[in-house]
Amino acid sequence: MTDMDASPAAAAIPGPNGPAAGEAAGSLEATLEGLLEVESFDPPAGFVRRRDVEADRAAADADPVAFWADRARELLTWDKPFTQVLDDSNPPFYTWFADGELNLSANCLDRHVAAGRGARVAFHWRGEEGERRDVTYADLLADTQRLANGLTSLGVRAGDVVGIFLPMIPEVVVAMLACARIGAVHNVVFGGFAPSAVRERMEVSDARVLITVDGARRKGRRAEVKAAVDAELGDLPALERIIVVRGPGQNAAEVPMTPGRDVWFDELLAAADPDCPPVPLPAEHPLFILYSSGSTAKPKGILHTTAGYLLGATHTHGAVFDLDPDTDVYWCSADVGWITGHSYIVYGPLSNGATSVMYEGAPDYPDHDIWWRIVEEYRVTVFYTAPTAIRSCIKWGPQYPARHDLSSLRVLGTVGEPINPKAWLWYHLVIGGGRCPIVDTWWQTETGSVLISPLAGATATKPGSATRPLPAISAELRTEDGEPVTEGTGILVITKPWPSMLRTLYKDDERFVETYFSRFGPSTYVVGDAARLDADGYFWIIGRIDDVINVSGHRLSTAEVESAIVAHEAVAEAAVVAQPDEQTGQAIVAFVTLTGHRAGDDATEAQLREHVAHRIGKLARPKRIVWADDLPKTRSGKIMRRLLRDVAAGRELGDVTTLRDPAVMAVIAERVRATP
Ligand code: WTA
Repeated sequence: MTDMDASPAAAAIPGPNGPAAGEAAGSLEATLEGLLEVESFDPPAGFVRRRDVEADRAAADADPVAFWADRARELLTWDKPFTQVLDDSNPPFYTWFADGELNLSANCLDRHVAAGRGARVAFHWRGEEGERRDVTYADLLADTQRLANGLTSLGVRAGDVVGIFLPMIPEVVVAMLACARIGAVHNVVFGGFAPSAVRERMEVSDARVLITVDGARRKGRRAEVKAAVDAELGDLPALERIIVVRGPGQNAAEVPMTPGRDVWFDELLAAADPDCPPVPLPAEHPLFILYSSGSTAKPKGILHTTAGYLLGATHTHGAVFDLDPDTDVYWCSADVGWITGHSYIVYGPLSNGATSVMYEGAPDYPDHDIWWRIVEEYRVTVFYTAPTAIRSCIKWGPQYPARHDLSSLRVLGTVGEPINPKAWLWYHLVIGGGRCPIVDTWWQTETGSVLISPLAGATATKPGSATRPLPAISAELRTEDGEPVTEGTGILVITKPWPSMLRTLYKDDERFVETYFSRFGPSTYVVGDAARLDADGYFWIIGRIDDVINVSGHRLSTAEVESAIVAHEAVAEAAVVAQPDEQTGQAIVAFVTLTGHRAGDDATEAQLREHVAHRIGKLARPKRIVWADDLPKTRSGKIMRRLLRDVAAGRELGDVTTLRDPAVMAVIAERVRATP
């Protein structure tokens, strides 16, 4: 491995005072090309790490369970200390700290306020139109108590499910913490999903209450959220109450409110008692459900519980980013509706008492430099985003970050998909000025917190590799037959339980066991990704091995998209596959046959895309729709998606002799060439 300190390369980078973008573009490109040769980067020379991690590694190697117990005592505040740590008597149904009790919202709020840090800013909130609102820990605690009482007054009890469908506004944090305070189970749905997807997620989780917003804005346009929610969810029998937040910048447009069912968030808070003492809850009390895509059309309700989850989020947020809550200003650009937002916007940062930035808007509105304007304005020190966002920034050009002083940054992170080395190097040089370690964090909704990642400033990094498992995490590779792979490619598995792992799929223990623990036995968690292990023991994540597509870091199920397309009256059959995409990592391609052997046209294509947006959300719209007369099927009638993947990616077609009608593929290949 060729170790090299990357900082000298930074000299070639256009900083705030650097050369104009035009001149710099050539030299930046050349620098990036040159650095592609460099295999490994030592922690930047000037980086001073604030936390000792070598001690962690040693302790975790010696006794992982004892390591987690020590961490749980050190990082969390317990109402009743635990005496049991891991119970592994019934795999894969593990429990952690089961006889301990604590309240998660008290860990995120009360303990910081009690320690005199109530005036500390929890979130510097930035609105899309430039509005600024600083929310302190004391503010969050006050609102959380009132909303917790408000929920109780509406009949919500511990264990009840509360849906949350909100944009990136501070109220979303209050909503989550208020649930946690009284032991209600939150079920957040990403604001970009369509109301009909919200309906499905509310229905299958028996949500009694939904917290939503009157309207939301995106790049200057307004969406009537409450009206759409009424239209889609109005008749759900279990849904008794809808709480409506007045979103920022909304005009007083008529918002439909149903008396007896709907209540304004601010009115509920104003009428509520300000004091709501935190209820001590058992460590394994359910905390939230988050729906994620799997290999069938039915989304999986991933269930996390209280103490183990909070420990994972708190510990990794500190250790991976080397976070110092007294001095860092941290910003994770994800949406709260994804697991990244749950763990690294809400729970990890608040439990650690950090100051964060929360941004409502898009990275290219009002202009393409808005992120860097925010970094400069709040002197952000730790920035965490997705590779797809970095690729967008590359496309827009280095002149946008160059407009701003980014010298406050000390750590950069990525998550969601493999990062290509060129994007890594661009991030390192153009955003990080060559002085910030990059943590490429691998994890999943199921894992609750980061499992494979560099520790900022302590791990030598290789562009494109998530490096090594964190202390106490046993990640390994297996062959198809379950043999260990020590170097080369294999199926990624985790062989020891960890505190923040999912506990089950909501009301579906069977699917939980079947999905994750059937292949190699009940104590080997099968991740669903393939990876490569190099000679240094570094992991290189390749991608999903199931029918899950990763578009811009968003997980989508091929089956879910197919079933949405097939639901359209004009469609006879559909098969959905992923094709590589420079911008979004993967893109959705749909092969569609129409009823009555009709030929497809532009109008039908537009309708179908709109139809998918309506059923799932805009992010699931196929990038390409290829009209087919027939789909490639085996003699038993199974669609051969492998052939469709090959043809979509422009690869040589493999064996087609097992097809019922081998001629089908020739027609499809011709159509693919004709479909941009
Ligand atoms: C992928 C997001 C490569 C992976 C936190 C995983 C990654 C899925 C990385 C989980 C990474 C996530 N490098 N691939 N650093 N991080 N993935 O549940 O395929 O939305 O299984 O969780 O994203 O997606 P999820």
